[in-house]
Amino acid sequence: MTFNGKKILITGGAGFIGSNLVKTILQEWPDAEILILDAFVNGHFKNLIGFKGELFAGDLTDDKSLNLLKARPFDFIFHQGAITDTTIHNQKKMIEANTNSFSFLLDLAEKNHAPLIYASSAAVYGNSPAPNRVGVGEIPENIYGYSKYLMDEMTRAYFKRNPKPEHPLVGLRYFNVYGPGEYYKGKMASMILQLALKMRRDITPRLFKFGDQRRDFVFVDDVVQANLKAATANASGIFNVGSGVSRTFNEIVAILNDTLGTTHFIEYFDNPYTFYQNNTCADIRETKEKLGYFPQYSLEKGIQKTVEWLETSLKDADPIP
Ligand SMILES: NC(=O)c1ccc[n+]([C@@H]2O[C@H](COP(=O)([O-])OP(=O)(O)OC[C@H]3O[C@@H](n4cnc5c(N)ncnc54)[C@H](O)[C@@H]3O)[C@@H](O)[C@H]2O)c1
Repeated sequence: MTFNGKKILITGGAGFIGSNLVKTILQEWPDAEILILDAFVNGHFKNLIGFKGELFAGDLTDDKSLNLLKARPFDFIFHQGAITDTTIHNQKKMIEANTNSFSFLLDLAEKNHAPLIYASSAAVYGNSPAPNRVGVGEIPENIYGYSKYLMDEMTRAYFKRNPKPEHPLVGLRYFNVYGPGEYYKGKMASMILQLALKMRRDITPRLFKFGDQRRDFVFVDDVVQANLKAATANASGIFNVGSGVSRTFNEIVAILNDTLGTTHFIEYFDNPYTFYQNNTCADIRETKEKLGYFPQYSLEKGIQKTVEWLETSLKDADPIP
């Protein structure tokens, strides 16, 4: 399978995950014809230095942008664009940007007979106990998670109408993604990046008591791999994308100490949130079986890569306040 000569739409392509996807596609298939649509909410031109393709600064909630997309042919659609700030409580704004726009993209993919791969989220599981399995415990706790849950429900309704879609329609529930390109997410960047930025400036890492909360941290290259596999596996559905392993916040600090060559102790403080997930872990058996997705990065290896990127591309960057 080649993406060379293929017309590819990547929404949110200036963002963290989208720009990594763009880079990987163009490294492996330099003649892929990519159109990025991004509203530059968190997207940043620095994520796209060297990008050769079309960049359209537009909004998924704006008719002018949607009309442009309607007029263009696409062979593949990767949909990463979304409001990703989970602290936004404006329900109308969140649903408009994340959910309403998805209905348009479903139609666009159908019209073009194009595979549509979209970013869902582990936030769909809310505080349900791990391991998290598609179809079980889908009880989002915030409007962001609910906006993604609605996208998955629209996908399920689509499968009811079209039990054997002619072209793949795949929802990928990312868990906690980290890695190069994340800096411009600011306070929404992963804990790994935020701790790394502080610890390398000799700032003591602070964790909620007692740092034993667990997350399934997944390196961004593995998420890119999942997208590419999904586009070509000819298996429609909704799948978890994680590492399949959950690790503690304390472990992140220990690995960062090793990687940065620091010896920080941790300062613990009371968790102010009444709602807080204590453990997430993706059940990725179906993702392996149906998409051929196999994560390649341990937390140690992913953090090593992240720190290398910080030292080469963001040497002078300040910690995120
Ligand atoms: N990073 C994670 O841990 C994670 C976890 C689960 C799901 N996701 C999903 O993955 C996708 C990519 O997330 P990310 O981490 O790269 O975040 P990001 O914020 O860096 O990327 C999202 C991109 O969408 C753009 N955007 C926002 N609203 C838009 C709109 N109305 N029209 C067009 N573009 C718009 C932003 O400018 C940004 O470039 C998102 O859909 C997100 O919900 C991410």
